[in-house]
Amino acid sequence: MTTKYLLDETHLPTHWYNIQADLSQPLPPVLNPATHEPVTADDLAPLFPQALIEQEMTTEREVPIPEPVRDVYRQWRPAPLYRAHALEKALGTPARIYYKYEGVSPAGSHKPNSAIAQAFYNREAGVKRLTTETGAGQWGTSLSYAGALMDLDVQVFQVRVSYDQKPYRRAQMQTYGARCVASPSEETAFGRSVLAENPNHTGSLGIAISEAVELAAQDPDTKYALGSVLNQVLLHQTVIGQECMEQMVMADDWPDVLVGCTGGGSNFAGFAFPFIGQALRGGESPRIVAVEPSSCPTLTRGRYAYDYGDTAKMTPLTRMHTLGSGFTPPGFHAGGLRYHGMAPLVSHAKELGLFEAKAYPQKACFEAGIIFARSEGIVPAPEANHAVRGAIDEAIRCREEGKSETILFNLCGHGHFDMAAYTAYFEGDLSDHEYSDEELAMALSGLPSTGV
Ligand SMILES: Cc1ncc(COP(=O)(O)O)c(C=O)c1O
Repeated sequence: MTTKYLLDETHLPTHWYNIQADLSQPLPPVLNPATHEPVTADDLAPLFPQALIEQEMTTEREVPIPEPVRDVYRQWRPAPLYRAHALEKALGTPARIYYKYEGVSPAGSHKPNSAIAQAFYNREAGVKRLTTETGAGQWGTSLSYAGALMDLDVQVFQVRVSYDQKPYRRAQMQTYGARCVASPSEETAFGRSVLAENPNHTGSLGIAISEAVELAAQDPDTKYALGSVLNQVLLHQTVIGQECMEQMVMADDWPDVLVGCTGGGSNFAGFAFPFIGQALRGGESPRIVAVEPSSCPTLTRGRYAYDYGDTAKMTPLTRMHTLGSGFTPPGFHAGGLRYHGMAPLVSHAKELGLFEAKAYPQKACFEAGIIFARSEGIVPAPEANHAVRGAIDEAIRCREEGKSETILFNLCGHGHFDMAAYTAYFEGDLSDHEYSDEELAMALSGLPSTGV
């Protein structure tokens, strides 16, 4: 009986995979917010180094991973893939359940896969400082770690609610040498304007992005790094799915269904796009399920429209599933899933019918995470609990239908810094929040008018 499928370092992917090369229709263009014309590389230059702008725009199928980035990946990659024997037993399911575990990275999630790459290209371009936002704290930690390795100063705007809930994430960022401030903050004009209206604002990823972008746009030595949503970030995460494919071959099995959670879409895309690409090129075509929180339901209830990536409306306009850039989700604990939009590439793939989406309330997700922890031992991050819930429900379906399907899900991070959220669950302090149609319509009423 095999439990772990381990690849040695010689199997570390050499390229990132770009799904754009295999799509039947091109991604809608990103628009300049002032002119509503497609953005140019020059428009993006104040925020990103040239190499990352090229990655944002490329439609090449394979992008080589630079050797210095692969050298850092070797610290924890290839990441293990597990067969969840104990979970299968606990559920009494005939399904075979596998999970890819990204929690083995130094930050505890998939986020360093992109942080290391972004920091590397910035260092190569002579950048001195990076600014960023963080919701769960996972991305801020990852960029802080990457900054320490690549000799860059890092300033992180951590969404206020998460800053207060997770002091040890802040301490970890400090340990790596970064500066972490709660957002909205007094350090930017936009932060001050939000606080002037509401001094107790709990923050949102959209606001934290505006603060980080504002600082980067003002200083030629400072660039901005984003932890999800962008094409380049999804690209960097495809090491996950590529490794999974090799590991499923090792297991002499192949998934019938893949499950991942979606915040901005990066772990889901990194995990699922290599499989979708293979299907688009005529290979096996597993069912693919994206799971999101019902309190921030971009894919299942958002509108597919052009919108800003941030609350201050400074970023370019992208066509994506959105709840409106002014949307502030409630302070529930899956901080990494609290973004008003979805990655344009994930949104486009959804419109092309390449995967299904489901939304779950948070209590059902914690319940699933606890079943998982009590059988497999790993305590998942609250974000990852959404994927666990989705996978468990597929396994229960298999039990009810008497089917022995193969289920593969992405356990994108551990929850060691999220125990306050588990405590809140055990003490009955968590509530589920569903939006009414009226509330969602209100949030969407401020969408920019681009004609689509
Ligand atoms: C552990 C974890 N999973 C998932 C997410 C959601 O981001 P994405 O959808 O880009 O993977 C986050 C974001 O912070 C996270 O920390």
